[in-house]
Amino acid sequence: MTSAPTQRSGVRQAVRDIPAYPFTPVNVPYKLDQNENPYDFPAELKQKAAERLLAHPWNRYPDLHADTLRSAIARFEDWDAAGVVITPGSNVLIKILTELAGIGQTVLTTDPTFAVYTLEAQMLGAKLVLTPLNPDFSLPVEATLEALDAHEPGVLYVTQPHAPTGHSDRPEDVRRVVEAADARGWVTVIDEAYYQYAGTDYRDLVRAGQNVLSLRTFSKGWGLAGVRAGYLLTNTALAGELQKLVSAFTINFLTQAVIETALEHPEYMRGRVAEAVAERQRIFEATRNHPTCQVLPSSTNFFLLKTPDADAAYQHLLSHGIACRRQDKLRGLEGCLRISVGKPHENDALIAAINSL
Ligand SMILES: Cc1ncc(COP(=O)(O)O)c(C=O)c1O
Repeated sequence: MTSAPTQRSGVRQAVRDIPAYPFTPVNVPYKLDQNENPYDFPAELKQKAAERLLAHPWNRYPDLHADTLRSAIARFEDWDAAGVVITPGSNVLIKILTELAGIGQTVLTTDPTFAVYTLEAQMLGAKLVLTPLNPDFSLPVEATLEALDAHEPGVLYVTQPHAPTGHSDRPEDVRRVVEAADARGWVTVIDEAYYQYAGTDYRDLVRAGQNVLSLRTFSKGWGLAGVRAGYLLTNTALAGELQKLVSAFTINFLTQAVIETALEHPEYMRGRVAEAVAERQRIFEATRNHPTCQVLPSSTNFFLLKTPDADAAYQHLLSHGIACRRQDKLRGLEGCLRISVGKPHENDALIAAINSL
């Protein structure tokens, strides 16, 4: 049993004030609630990764700063290995970015946004500034430029494509905001967690900037959410500062073996991304004549379903064995559920459930 710390506890008020991360697992056949890749890592690659893992002596520490894996990622991304930082999931990088440039300073992002940016900002004591998304979910360019001028630099998150809306912005809008933030000294994060599904790639803005970085993950397109690996690409100076905040030996041999194996076989990832994109379109087409519900366009492996009554729609999907996430309490997302693209037979069940709403 857990109990709240007493008033005399040294636990900081900012931590007490934040509720625990809001997620309750639901046990149903179709798990479309966490933006995961619906396919497991291929069995033959699991075998290869396991052989690699077994070849390592387990009594020895892994690389201090994951140098072997950083080099493998650098080769895949055509990047300087000294500009790669890897941690157990990009959520950990978000914490580290907040430690780098958020604590006592400002974290600027959109409303709504990816919850981890705001949770870390609040827990670590950053001033949180939110600019409301435009009604079409596009980046509020002018409001962001004003906020960049109104506050001392900290961390800016530009999520491309955006979560939780799935919207992809015009590259010229992203460029304007990123260049303005960089010029003012903001640590400018382009979170590209879902970039494979959008066909976008903002490495050129990172190369051109001083304070710009791209945040990427193995949890989505690569289908390795359970292994926990995320990384960022930036210049070697900024990577060096970030690396100081990464705990030593944080990437273990298991992660190293799996990710090295995955990077040698990117074709499996590309095939799955292509299927998800085609399935996303199929769900969109198959539900487009619905009289009251709308699948909103998306550039990711999930989409928003806008309904007249989110609670009723959520319960209806559950009764069809489908788990999704309610987003209807978020600004501008009234009536919305967030649903991941699944395997074709899961999407068949989803289409039938939506069309019987
Ligand atoms: C926008 C965005 N960034 C980062 C992450 C974190 O990914 P991970 O910690 O699994 O690498 C997610 C996960 O859902 C996400 O949606």
